[in-house]
Amino acid sequence: MDKLRITGGTRLKGRVKISGAKNSALPAMAASLLTAGEVTLENVPLVNDIFTTRRLLRELGVIVEFEPDHSARLRAEKILSHEAPYDLVKTMRASVLVLGPLLARTGHARVSLPGGCAIGARPINLHIQGKITVTGTENLMMAASLAHGQTILQNAAREPEVVDLAEMLNRMGAKIDGAGTPTIKIEGVHELKGTMHRVIPDRIEAGTFLVAGAITNGDIEVLNSNPNHLTSVIEKLREAGVNIETGPEGMAVRGNGALKATDVVTKEYPAFATDMQAQYMALMTQANGISFITENIFENRFMHASELMRMGANIRIDGSRAIVSGKGRLTGANVIASDLRASASLILAALIADGVTVIDRVYHLDRGYEKIEEKLRSIGAQIERLK
Ligand code: EPU
Repeated sequence: MDKLRITGGTRLKGRVKISGAKNSALPAMAASLLTAGEVTLENVPLVNDIFTTRRLLRELGVIVEFEPDHSARLRAEKILSHEAPYDLVKTMRASVLVLGPLLARTGHARVSLPGGCAIGARPINLHIQGKITVTGTENLMMAASLAHGQTILQNAAREPEVVDLAEMLNRMGAKIDGAGTPTIKIEGVHELKGTMHRVIPDRIEAGTFLVAGAITNGDIEVLNSNPNHLTSVIEKLREAGVNIETGPEGMAVRGNGALKATDVVTKEYPAFATDMQAQYMALMTQANGISFITENIFENRFMHASELMRMGANIRIDGSRAIVSGKGRLTGANVIASDLRASASLILAALIADGVTVIDRVYHLDRGYEKIEEKLRSIGAQIERLK
């Protein structure tokens, strides 16, 4: 299993390009099941969750071709199976995204209960009942696009990835109205056609680089990113004393040396994303004062805290709340990444720790961050992959 070896202490400086959003590309790929026409996607991030989805779709009969320029062509002329096999589903929860489109296209679907990051129970009852959930909203939007009559989703998720999928489906001929608000109205149509779609930039990758700039007191331009999707994160970082400028090409972050402890509460979009909580915790270990970090979305998403403590951080967990006392010196250690965003948090901590940190189980990281060590190295980080 690969590991990452990071020597802390360098100020990051330079420009990084953000990849397409994993969590937009996954439903976009699943949406190819809804049509016999060709779907071309651009700006697809080349990460392992995307490759798992490619395998899953191929099993179902979709012809999928990837190009090195981050585009993908998908054609589901014939659906060969309506069953998503357990060995693929268990590695990635987002496999459940084929449920809605398979059902809509063929009238049957069988998908094992999903796996994914071990950050909480993560049942799928709400996908079926249609209450607030990101991939649940996406699943229902896809199914309803080919259903008879009108479907109204109430309490829908408002994440940018939901809006991105709705725009793609509408270009395929769907009639979806209200994506981005809590009520989405869908008029079913008989048939959908192929389309071309450019995936939005990954807001969590962009947010992770903003924290990288802030924590190393660096100076980074985060290109190909959309600040409008990161309003709460930018606001919070500014409150903590980080300089962030936004422009048409992306964002620039500059540390000013003194971070202020600032509380945060994770909530559904447009509030502060749970997917940025672990990275923010690493940052708060370097802020002056005590910060309270409340995790409202997942019941078990503090596993990075014990690893940060192993590096010297002063953190106490009290139910859904983490209490971080800073600013404390971090020291390099051997740590274990427990999930995707926890891995990012440990990298961020390692960047400013004294000495060398070795992060084990980076396969979690490879599920969702494209070439992160190359990107970090290009802005000055001392990071290498141990095979
Ligand atoms: N929930 C239920 N029942 C359901 C569905 C959800 O109880 O049927 C609960 C979950 O257990 C969780 C909460 O509702 O406590 C929110 O879950 P949601 O369904 O919104 O999450 P998801 O759709 O499975 C997506 C992202 C996650 C991200 C969450 C929250 C994708 C592929 N995944 O997951 O991304 O954390 O929304 O924003 O879009 C990541 O990228 O690291 C990641 C975990």
